[in-house]
Amino acid sequence: MNETDTQNNQRSYVVHGGNRLSGEICVPGAKNAATKQLVATLLADSPVILHNVPDIGDVHVTLEMLKDLGAHVTYNQGTVTVDARDLKTSKVEEAVHRKNRIPILLFGPLLHRFGKATIPALGGCKIGARPVGFHVEALRKMGAEIESEGGSYVARAKELKGAVIDLPFPSVGATENIMLAAVKAKGTTVIKNAAIEPEIMDLAVLLQAMGAIINMDVNRTWVIEGVESLHGAEHRIIPDRMVAASFLIAGALTRGNVFVRDAVQTDLLSFLNVLRRVGVPFQILKDGIRVLGEEIKGPLKPIALETDVHPGFMTDWQQPFVMLLTQADGVSIVHETVYEDRFGYTDALVKMGAKIQLHRECLGSKPCRYVDHDYKHSAVIVGPTPLKGADIEIPDLRAGFSYIIAALIAKGSTRLIGVEQIERGYEDIIGKLKALGADIQVS
Ligand code: EPU
Repeated sequence: MNETDTQNNQRSYVVHGGNRLSGEICVPGAKNAATKQLVATLLADSPVILHNVPDIGDVHVTLEMLKDLGAHVTYNQGTVTVDARDLKTSKVEEAVHRKNRIPILLFGPLLHRFGKATIPALGGCKIGARPVGFHVEALRKMGAEIESEGGSYVARAKELKGAVIDLPFPSVGATENIMLAAVKAKGTTVIKNAAIEPEIMDLAVLLQAMGAIINMDVNRTWVIEGVESLHGAEHRIIPDRMVAASFLIAGALTRGNVFVRDAVQTDLLSFLNVLRRVGVPFQILKDGIRVLGEEIKGPLKPIALETDVHPGFMTDWQQPFVMLLTQADGVSIVHETVYEDRFGYTDALVKMGAKIQLHRECLGSKPCRYVDHDYKHSAVIVGPTPLKGADIEIPDLRAGFSYIIAALIAKGSTRLIGVEQIERGYEDIIGKLKALGADIQVS
C-alpha cells in the first residue's frame, strides 16, 4: 500500500460547524492516572481492582501490555481487575508497545519481580524530543544498571535501594517512575523538585492502599519508605481534568450551555481562573461545573498566559485554550514552558483562518528554560477571526481536540484525519459530541 492509499484508508471525522453545544457529559476517569495505576498493579501479590477506568486507546494498549507480560486482566464497564501473580516475562514487546509512553514506567515493577527488564524506546504524542534521561539516571542511582541495546533499554538490578533524587525539572513521568521503584526498594527514597500533579497524588493514594509508605513533603518533595511487599486494593480513579476542561471550552466556544458532570474544581483551579479572565461565565455545582457560553456578553477578552507544572496552567490545556483565544477580541500571548515544540498544531488553525504567530522568545512574565534555544515556544494570537472548514491531519491528542472545536465553529465542513490520536485519550468522543448537538460523523 502506498502513502496515499494509507491516508485514504484512515478513519476520519467530518464535522459541520455552526451548532451550539448544550446538554450534559460525564467526565470519565483520567487517562494519565489510569495508565500509571495499571502499571502499579504489577507490584501487588494479590489482585488490584480499579474503578472508573476510561475506555480509551491508551488504556487498551496498556491492558494488552499487562496481558503480554502474563497478568490476568478483566475489563468490565470501567472496572479493571489485574492479578499479576503469574507474570511470565520481563520483556515488553516492541511492536505493540511503541504506541504510548507507559512502558518506561515498568522498570521498577519488573526489576522487583525479575531482577531485569527490557523496555522498548517510547511512542506517544509528538510534541517535543521527550527524552527519558531523568528516569534512567534516577534508576541508576537506585542501583539499576541500564544499557540501551537495539532500540530498547535493558535494565538489571539484584535489588533496588532508596536514594535521594533531585530532578532537574519536575517531570511527571520521572516522578512516577521513581515512585513505582521506591515503594518496594530497600530503604528510603526522597524525590526533590518532583511533580505533584493530581494524577500523581492519585497514584500515591493507590500505592498507599496497597501497603506503601508514601508521603508528600513541603517544596515538591516525596518521601517513600520501601516495604517488603504490596497487596491488592480497590481504588476509584479521579476524573480526567483534561476532558473536563476540553468540554468546558467547547461549550464556551459554541456559545452553548454544557454541564460537565464530575468536573473537579480543585483540579481545575488555575484553568477556571483563566476561563473567568477571558469572560466565560460558569457555575460550580455540587456534582460538576456548568459552562454558560450562551450568556457571554460581547466579545471574549484577550489574555497573556503561561503554561507550567502543577499547580500552574497545565500544558495539556494549552491547545484547546489557544483555539478559544482565536475568538477573543485583541492580542493574546501564550508562553509554553513545559514542552519546547507544542505549537506545531497551530499551522492547521491558521489554514482554517486563525491569526497565530510563533516566536522563539519567551513572551511571558519570566524567561523559561528554553530562553537560550531556538524553539518556537511562544504564540501571539490575534482575534477574533472567522474560521472556515478544511481537511486537516491530527498530529497529537490534545491538538486533535482543538481541531474538533475549531471545526465546530467553522463555516462549512471539516475533515479530520488521524482520529486514532484523539481516541487514545477521549472516551466515546463522537457519542458525547453528538449528544450535545454537534454535527459530527465518522467516515
Ligand atoms: N523531560 C526531560 N527529561 C526526562 C523527562 C522529561 O527533559 O527524562 C522533559 C520533557 O521533555 C518535557 C518536560 O520534561 O519537556 C515535562 O515532561 P514530563 O516528563 O513531565 O511529561 P511526561 O510524563 O512524558 C505527562 C503526560 C503528558 C503531559 C505531561 C506534562 C502522561 C502519559 N503524559 O507526560 O500528557 O503533557 O506529563 O504534564 O502522563 C497528554 O495526555 O496528551 C500528554 C501529552
